[in-house]
Amino acid sequence: MSVDTGTYSKGLEGIVADETTVSRIDGQKGKLYYRGYAIEDLAEHSDYEEVVYLLLYEDLPTGPELETWRKRMRASRTIPAQIQEMVRAFPASAHPMQLLQSASAYLSSYVEHRIQHSPTCNCRDTLHQVVQTASVVAAYLRFCENKDYVPPRMDLSHGANFLYMVRGTEPEDYEGRIMDTCLVLHAEHEFNASTFTARVVASTLSTCYCSISAAMGALFGPLHGGANERVMEMVEEIGTRERVGAWLDKAIAEKRKVMGMGHREYKVKDPRSFVMEQFLEELAEKKGDPRYYEILKEIEKQFRSRMEEKGKPIYPNVDFFSGAVYTMLGLPRIVFTPIFAMARVAGWLAHILEQRKDNRIYRPESLYKGPAPRPWIPIEKRGP
Ligand code: COA
Repeated sequence: MSVDTGTYSKGLEGIVADETTVSRIDGQKGKLYYRGYAIEDLAEHSDYEEVVYLLLYEDLPTGPELETWRKRMRASRTIPAQIQEMVRAFPASAHPMQLLQSASAYLSSYVEHRIQHSPTCNCRDTLHQVVQTASVVAAYLRFCENKDYVPPRMDLSHGANFLYMVRGTEPEDYEGRIMDTCLVLHAEHEFNASTFTARVVASTLSTCYCSISAAMGALFGPLHGGANERVMEMVEEIGTRERVGAWLDKAIAEKRKVMGMGHREYKVKDPRSFVMEQFLEELAEKKGDPRYYEILKEIEKQFRSRMEEKGKPIYPNVDFFSGAVYTMLGLPRIVFTPIFAMARVAGWLAHILEQRKDNRIYRPESLYKGPAPRPWIPIEKRGP
């Protein structure tokens, strides 16, 4: 097949790879919708379990449907003893994203697969991927500190239960609510690199677990997950609100990127960052520690005005405030990307199901730039 070089776009920018009904980003207006529902409404009125239902079943549940769904999700929280052992045995020097990637594939062996050539796979029935990712991250943090595995609680929300499994004590109501809504905000974001990876693997009719495992690998890369870790490094480096101006002058002069700022899709402030900002303000007030909030607001104010003066406005993305929110919830930086993964696994599954519904294996073309056909050279004639 001859290649139409007119369709070539580095990084696939501007290429429409498939149709989707899962989510939509309106980058000009700063809007994000899951199945048509605005992220602000979901953050205010919904919770992670309901959003998982919405993503997988394409509509909000009725009261009885939600009740049944919650029971099913919560019943999946306990991780098998063998997975606990795997988490315990994982090398301390390895990153937990590598653990999640392996655990995803390993979890697959605990599920009876009905996936071969099935359009729906059995993701909706098992739910292990969505639910147990959080349990694996919590177990990882416990074992890192030589503490025991904490069995899940069935009466807490997904976010509150995660904090409970990490701490071993029940979080405050507001902490559980904030954690849960952070998962709502990260649950889905259209055709980004990890979601596209999940769809490509699903398009080969591989298992949903292998698709998720591959997506975890894509998310691990610093160009995708992990910007919030670097935001916190930046905040620590700056140290106080008074030092923001001088730090920014130097960063801009050195053409350094200000972490948590800018987005390929959003040309205005990321709608999720408004919610994260409110959470950080609430945590700062409740915990009596406004330092992170003050520094980040000062960076936002000064960076925006400097960039607007240059005629190049750049606004906060979701990662700008999220690292500080997690830090104030007592979570270490090493699990920031795994938290992203444990939320996004719902979106990945929704896309895997959509891919399977109307599947065609992904097989793009490449633009060959190598040597023209040439004769084989026997080894003795290839030089010393
Ligand atoms: N700090 C300083 N300058 C920035 C910037 C930032 N955070 N984000 C973009 N810019 C500038 C670039 O330097 C570039 O300037 P130029 O035209 O003078 O070269 C211009 O804005 C376009 O940036 P570019 O990196 O090409 O945009 P992109 O759409 O390819 O990339 C990001 C988007 C998110 C990768 C980019 O904004 C970035 O690296 N942000 C910081 C990391 C981050 O927060 N990532 C999380 C994303 S959710």
